[in-house]
Amino acid sequence: MRVMRDPTSFLKEEYDDLVKQEIDWKLRVLGGPSSPWCQVDGKKVLMLCSNNYLGLSNHPKLKEAAIKAVNTHGAGSGSVRPIAGNMDLHVELERRLALFKGAEGSLVYQTGFAANSGLIPQLAGKGDLIISDELNHGSIIDGVRLSHADRGVYKHADADDLGRVLDSAEKTPLIPRRILIITDGVFSMDGDIAPLDKIAKLANEHGAMVYVDDAHGEGVLGDGGRGIVSHFKLSREQVHVEMGTFSKAFGVVGGHVSGSRDLINFAYNKSRTWLLSGSHPPAVAAACMAAIDVLEREPEHVKRLWENTRRFKKAMKDLGFDVGRSETPITPVMVGESGKAKKLSLRVFELGVFALPIVYPMVAQGKARIRTIMNAALTNEDVDFAVSTFEKAGKELGII
Ligand SMILES: Cc1ncc(COP(=O)(O)O)c(C=O)c1O
Repeated sequence: MRVMRDPTSFLKEEYDDLVKQEIDWKLRVLGGPSSPWCQVDGKKVLMLCSNNYLGLSNHPKLKEAAIKAVNTHGAGSGSVRPIAGNMDLHVELERRLALFKGAEGSLVYQTGFAANSGLIPQLAGKGDLIISDELNHGSIIDGVRLSHADRGVYKHADADDLGRVLDSAEKTPLIPRRILIITDGVFSMDGDIAPLDKIAKLANEHGAMVYVDDAHGEGVLGDGGRGIVSHFKLSREQVHVEMGTFSKAFGVVGGHVSGSRDLINFAYNKSRTWLLSGSHPPAVAAACMAAIDVLEREPEHVKRLWENTRRFKKAMKDLGFDVGRSETPITPVMVGESGKAKKLSLRVFELGVFALPIVYPMVAQGKARIRTIMNAALTNEDVDFAVSTFEKAGKELGII
């Protein structure tokens, strides 16, 4: 006897369930560029939750480069890169990125998500072990899930615990053939930095490969915004895969990995997300190149980002807000209860500041917060406006 199935009823049921729990996404609409003061749902507000750390998404040099590339190369690339979509702009972008990163080579993927989910499963398979920080980004988690390797998890940013996992792996009857340690560089919910120097040291002792996802460290940490490897002054022999994205501080879109020539040759021949997905439109490649130019020639943006970050964090702490363990421009305003975090976000929006709440299940129960992200394009007056807005709303809601 056949079972009678309703093939689609789960769509509505599961969505309704999310709505009931109030964890469905309510999308706000940006009517114009991502700039310090922008239009969100038709209202003029100060942007305080964009990943556009340096304000490059609306930088005239990036816009000019994109327009020029449309005129010279068209709107699309026409294919995947291994077939007919490998334009000179893509190749030049990789050359420029490798120089910027001080690596033998770089490879650009369509997104950071595609880099993690396409490359990680190729780096470790059956008989290997991947060891991951417990708070790693979802794209790493999916990449690890797609691999057939065994998995280990260490406590967040805890090198001692990583050492314990590594030691116990060496004692198992089936000693792993390869070991891959993966961590976010900067953790996107808390803004803290992975102890990459300690991780690299342990990896060296165990002959393990190190993979860092520096999505939130690029343009922020290190010499001229070169990222976490530069921040810790580590070498390519110590950190084997430096992954990143053009979608955050670089202001455009696109994932990338940098490392040895061997890594790049391996990655582009093996990552299915790279091989089987159309390459970036010329405007994207050209704008990404312009972003590298700006980082190299206009160091004031990174400097300004940190000045704003220090000003904001200090003022918020002085007011009595708990800003968590952040060491970077990502500054969580810890609230605790999900309902209260949502109310705070709504109230600051009414008062003119756009900063979204991060609530369970994105973070643990009781750890709800507003995640603010500081930006280089804000003036001192803008930063002070953000602080006074939080002060007003925080007092009204009894948070401070
Ligand atoms: C740590 C981390 N890795 C990877 C990604 C994915 O990057 P992309 O936006 O380029 O897909 C993100 C973006 O949310 C991220 O925060």
